[in-house]
Amino acid sequence: MEIFNKINDTKRFVREVKGRAKTIGFVPTMGALHRGHLSLMEKAKAENDILAVSVFVNPLQFNNPEDLEKYPRDFAKDRKLLEEVGCDLLFYPDVEEMYPEPVSTKYDFGELEKVMEGSMRPGHFNGVAVVVKKLFDIVEPDKAYFGEKDFQQLAIIQKLVKMEHLPVTVVPCPIVREEDGLAMSSRNERLTAGQRQIASFIYQTLKEAVKKSHFMTPDEVRLFVRNRFKDEPDFKLEYFELTDDKELQPVSAWEEAPGIVGFIAAWLGNVRLIDNMRFI
Ligand code: PAJ
Repeated sequence: MEIFNKINDTKRFVREVKGRAKTIGFVPTMGALHRGHLSLMEKAKAENDILAVSVFVNPLQFNNPEDLEKYPRDFAKDRKLLEEVGCDLLFYPDVEEMYPEPVSTKYDFGELEKVMEGSMRPGHFNGVAVVVKKLFDIVEPDKAYFGEKDFQQLAIIQKLVKMEHLPVTVVPCPIVREEDGLAMSSRNERLTAGQRQIASFIYQTLKEAVKKSHFMTPDEVRLFVRNRFKDEPDFKLEYFELTDDKELQPVSAWEEAPGIVGFIAAWLGNVRLIDNMRFI
């Protein structure tokens, strides 16, 4: 595995790879790698000649300074996992390398950035889009892999690629879960043992809500979920939404869109967890 901290070294490697007509599959990450990340890498490895991964905790996408400071970092462990999965190129820059000058780019993702994560975390998706655009320019991937764990992020990236005519195919990948259903996330590391035991309540609620959707209206399902959270004082529900799967706008009837997804963001202690599930 080649490890580069510098953009120019990475670009030189990419040019050499492209010169040999090899395809590049790319998985951008913020490190603290787990099986969710690895599933994206395995898919990228299988579908391309070269597997490229970036590890960069992007300060631009953190609206909460404490969250940035507490974000788990373990490069030695990440590096070992990346060797094991057969990563060919690891891009591991520092903040100064990525942002030598202040960033002023402002994307307009329309209604898509005004709901859910977009409304709860101002500036978050702009920060994601800025870094992903930069990473695409450096790594020049043929295909880039994103998890449905961050469904809205995936929709934002798909829109970015369209808006900016980026020559990359975005590949959505299914959510990888723990045995009890908890969606894998780097933030799960911050749960206490007791919190970890009950954390799958979010997943169980989504599953129950899907069942209810067979005989309830979307508004009735919304009420069902809100009431279920009221009975669990350890959790603080931030939002539950049922939206179409493209612009992620709330639906009032199941017939309103060909694809509908349910989304939860909830606090368990001081850890914010998100999850989602397809309803249609
Ligand atoms: P990060 O949270 O490290 O996630 C990197 C990729 O792994 C994302 O596409 C995310 O959706 C995916 N992922 C995380 N947990 C997953 C799970 N349980 N199942 C499937 N996929 C999962 O998302 C980011 O980093 C950043 O915003 C980034 C895109 C790298 C830009 O900074």
